[in-house]
Amino acid sequence: MNITVIGCGYLGAVHASAMAELGHRVVGVDVDPDKVAALSEGRPPFHEPGFTEILQRNIGSGRLTFTTDFATIGGAQVHFITVGTPQGPSGAADLTYVHAAIEAMLPHLGRCTDGAEVVAGKSTVPVGTAARLEPVIASTGALLVWNPEFLREGFAVEDTLHPDRMVYGLPGEPDGAERARAVLDELYAPILAEGIPRLLMDYPTAELVKISANAFLATKISFINAMASICDAAGGDVTSLARAIGMDTRIGHRFLRAGIGFGGGCLPKDIRAFQARAEELGVGEALEFLAEVDQINEETRHHALVKARSMLGGSLNRARVAVLGAAFKPDSDDIRCSPGLAIASELVDEGAQVVVTDPAAAPILARDVDLPYDVADDLEDALTAADLIVLATEWTQYTHCDPVWAATLVNGRNIVDGRNALNPKAWREAGFTYAAIGRQ
Ligand code: UDX
Repeated sequence: MNITVIGCGYLGAVHASAMAELGHRVVGVDVDPDKVAALSEGRPPFHEPGFTEILQRNIGSGRLTFTTDFATIGGAQVHFITVGTPQGPSGAADLTYVHAAIEAMLPHLGRCTDGAEVVAGKSTVPVGTAARLEPVIASTGALLVWNPEFLREGFAVEDTLHPDRMVYGLPGEPDGAERARAVLDELYAPILAEGIPRLLMDYPTAELVKISANAFLATKISFINAMASICDAAGGDVTSLARAIGMDTRIGHRFLRAGIGFGGGCLPKDIRAFQARAEELGVGEALEFLAEVDQINEETRHHALVKARSMLGGSLNRARVAVLGAAFKPDSDDIRCSPGLAIASELVDEGAQVVVTDPAAAPILARDVDLPYDVADDLEDALTAADLIVLATEWTQYTHCDPVWAATLVNGRNIVDGRNALNPKAWREAGFTYAAIGRQ
């Protein structure tokens, strides 16, 4: 099928490449000429395992191209909207890019001769957006579907090609719904053939599936971080607690890793946008708990700081601190809402001399000349002469770091394990004072 992907950021670039991998002819459109140039040359603008391979393979096969020219979308059968919906000043999602994409697309819709033409929204939008956009799209003869994406950074290719489920938010009119469903089923046929469940629903429910899934995941993380605070106060161990409660299949093990909290481009902004939308709908109180979830997430970073301070005798002033990890999670170079960088800034505010390192994000950080901390190219550089280490992102390079080797580099043997990812016994045996989150 001929398809287009509007917005070639994280979601769009991966989606475009994955759709080409399925055998479709794909044009990715973006307003940023630098991004289009990089992608066209097979250079990924971000770090994502497996992405370079599918990008280059499909450019090579001629099935995947990138352009800034919206006129090229004319005649294609499916157009995906994959632009960003960042957090606006009030906390609500900013839909500027969605509206700009639709406006740029409109003159070129209605030219498909292969069958029903579908516009498929993938961006995370406030509930009610699709219903508002539908008449505009329908005026061109195209059908609107809301088809949210659940991809995780670090697993984006895998999650796009082998998702847990597919969600189609379909038009209310039955004939249009049926024609739109058939087009998406044909497009996704190789994925659906694996037996992936495909759920049909209305627009608002499809929009809500995405944002409520992220709200639930954020709540699960903040729940275990709240338990970590209780464990700290009561002398318990949150990792044993999580293992035990996770064995109840109703609870499950995943997303119960206590630490310095969640970051990234999705969970923090989505829980705020969801609250703002609930307020607009007059049911703000239903999501008041998400403010607590957000608050716990902020506080968990402070707990790491408190531990760091007490480890150095009550003051971080002039201490050299190595922060390991700037990406919000491993296998990503995304530093949006990074818990590690938030801690690094607070350490600087307390007078510490901070050096941050990250296997993927360090070069991105180093481009910023106004940083309040230093950036080290590698682990050895970061550890050299450190009085204290803070593990902020559980990259394997860091979790496999030999404490005996680390001990030969540092000035003071102190480590705060912000991700409960290290072996306390091994670090203590190497002479380190070790502290973690919710663990003795
Ligand atoms: C998330 C959703 O998982 C994904 O389905 C959605 O499409 C986009 O948002 P992502 O932002 O890539 O994906 O990261 P995720 O794996 O969800 O992790 C988010 C944050 O939570 C990270 O900072 C991670 O370190 C943290 N986290 C995760 C924990 O602190 N504890 C956990 O147990 C799990």
